[in-house]
Amino acid sequence: MSQVIIVSNRLPISVSKKNAKLVYSPSLGGLATGLSSYVNDPGNTWIGWPGIASDELNEEEKQSIATELGKRNCYPVFLSKKQIDEFYNGFSNSILWPLFHNLPSRKIEPDQLTTWWQAYKKVNQHFAEVVVNLAQPKSQIWVHDYQLLLLPELLRIGKVGANIGFFLHIPFPKTKTLSRLAEAKKLLNGMLGADLIGFHTTEYVNDFLSFSKTTGIGKINDNVISLPSHRVVVNEFPMGIDYNKYAKAAKSKDVKLAAKRYKKRYSGRKLIVSIDRLDPTKGLVQRLNAYREFLKRNPNQCGKVVFTMVAAPSRTDIIVYQNLAKRLESLAQKINRDFGTSKWQPVDYMNIVQPFEEVAALFQIADIAFIVPLRDGMNLAAKEFVASNKKPGVLILSETAGAAEELQDALLVNPKQLESLVRALQQAMGMQKKELRGRLYRMKKDLSVNTVQHWAKTFVDTLQQPIPHTPRLTRTLNTRLIHGLNYDFRQAKKRLLFLDYDGTLVPFSAHYKNTHPPKAIIKLLSDLSANPVNEVVLISGRSADFLQKWFGAIPMNLVAEHGAAIKKNENKNWQTIDKTSTSWKKLLLPVLKKYARLAPGAHVEVKSNSLVWHYRAAKPYNAQKYAVIIKRSLKPILKKYGLEILQGNKVLEIKNPQISKANAAKQWLDQNYPFVLFIGDDLTDEDLFLALSPDSYAIKVGRGRTAARFRVDSSRDVVGLLRKLAKL
Ligand code: G6P
Repeated sequence: MSQVIIVSNRLPISVSKKNAKLVYSPSLGGLATGLSSYVNDPGNTWIGWPGIASDELNEEEKQSIATELGKRNCYPVFLSKKQIDEFYNGFSNSILWPLFHNLPSRKIEPDQLTTWWQAYKKVNQHFAEVVVNLAQPKSQIWVHDYQLLLLPELLRIGKVGANIGFFLHIPFPKTKTLSRLAEAKKLLNGMLGADLIGFHTTEYVNDFLSFSKTTGIGKINDNVISLPSHRVVVNEFPMGIDYNKYAKAAKSKDVKLAAKRYKKRYSGRKLIVSIDRLDPTKGLVQRLNAYREFLKRNPNQCGKVVFTMVAAPSRTDIIVYQNLAKRLESLAQKINRDFGTSKWQPVDYMNIVQPFEEVAALFQIADIAFIVPLRDGMNLAAKEFVASNKKPGVLILSETAGAAEELQDALLVNPKQLESLVRALQQAMGMQKKELRGRLYRMKKDLSVNTVQHWAKTFVDTLQQPIPHTPRLTRTLNTRLIHGLNYDFRQAKKRLLFLDYDGTLVPFSAHYKNTHPPKAIIKLLSDLSANPVNEVVLISGRSADFLQKWFGAIPMNLVAEHGAAIKKNENKNWQTIDKTSTSWKKLLLPVLKKYARLAPGAHVEVKSNSLVWHYRAAKPYNAQKYAVIIKRSLKPILKKYGLEILQGNKVLEIKNPQISKANAAKQWLDQNYPFVLFIGDDLTDEDLFLALSPDSYAIKVGRGRTAARFRVDSSRDVVGLLRKLAKL
């Protein structure tokens, strides 16, 4: 494999000074574990800041740090105190961090902002110089996070010649929010220097594509942005955890000892645990307030429960963080004063960094993990709890954390509503063991596959593909993506569902006329249409007569003959889109019939606006041969009448090119539904896949090249998916 260069603001090893001696310790976060297999290879390098100001170091110490880090394939970028203040504490953590997390930002003087922005640009440039010097033309460069948004473009300008990947670990904001920042477009240009941009969730991918669209940058087709210089693929890569490390932690001696110690300390009481960095995005105040309210409303629980909150100190030079630390300390004390007794301390608040063994032990014995950030890119602590827990316990998780897209078996809450939090605590306390076990089991199963190692490998493998020429990525609709789809479906106040019929709702049958709809499909469509939030459109190549006969009684929209005829739900009659003459049918019908005789099994269908040569039931050799002959021999006459041949799945359809599913769908698409889904299987569905906006769920059934973003194997998967949606 070619050289992998990882670039992040913080290195996986932090350096500090104790009694004038240099001390090396691992940095917080799961990134180092995920990338360990890359960084352990001496051919690769991790470039970043070692966590200490260069003003505190003399030349000899800098040398010594570089040598020591070099042994672990890391390369230090030194930052001065001033740079740390302006670039790190300033622009990165006081502007970008709150904005991207949708938090109110404090008022910043314009001069101050300019200084911070200049520093941000300078530090990104400094990183670029280092990377350009260390990279080789075939390197894979992987840049991380919001501190280095300008770096991908700077690397491209520096003609680094390597593939450039960028991953954002925090949420990508909505266009309205991001537009408040004067430098937003410059930051976007910076990111677009990459060949591949990754986010944790589909929501962030869509928000990024929407923002790119509003700025008018490049041409956007599905998840590919075409710029004059290169193409950028944008995709979600949800980060996982080192699953085995947490799942097997219970066997470690140190974890066993820690678990024993905590059990003794909490003497059989129910344990609520929360472990996160001390950060305004984490909703820590809300967690304590909700717990307080829970105790107030449930006096019978007093003395029977303990809330252990670990808030690891973070960005301690920033005043907002300092104030939050004070507030949490006093809130915890107040709860202990107001509710505690000589024998019971309701909150066990720890403002320290707990090592892995303590974290694993707490999560292992917890009855409830209370992880309710206001907004979070992913939140790995929630996943660590699921992997570690042995009780079985409950996970209470914010719906606004990236992890909620995957962890649908958690109790999902709105972190901003006290009521939602208190109710979840109450519900969690009363849940049956059997249900808890089921929920935990399903989440564990998902997490054991989507590990952090898998995440890193998928990203690097994708980066290594010849991305500039990859037209689009179609992803198999796995459990996680289905969770995301269900989530978006539930959130939407109006939904537009386009469903193809043959090959999508029902499997193909050799004799198309016999494929009467199964009762189950009629029921499914009725169920979906019964929900007023859903606008269902059955969009098929079948004749209007067929659709009317079988589906006319269901309150839904019907599109027949690939868009030639439409019956809207609210109308009684069919409208025929194409008013052009169909005199050509008389001319072509005998020709097609002749070829049907020559290829036994094939037959011709006459529709009001088209002719179809079906060859599903013909022998493959004959079918193939005559399909080619028909296309070739009819060319001149088709040209004369301005017609086209549409190649479908074992069908050739001759029709007016104005008629297409995409054209027919416009009637509904123009109304900007917040949730759009189209499931189709055929080549005749491709134009509609292409017409959909990138945030739509375009799903192709079966194999073959497609413009759809997602793929499922068979109509059975489609029915399964729709049945679930009908119940949401
Ligand atoms: C978040 C960010 C990371 C950052 C980490 C710790 O997870 O996404 O980029 O490194 O917090 O924050 P710090 O400011 O200490 O690096």
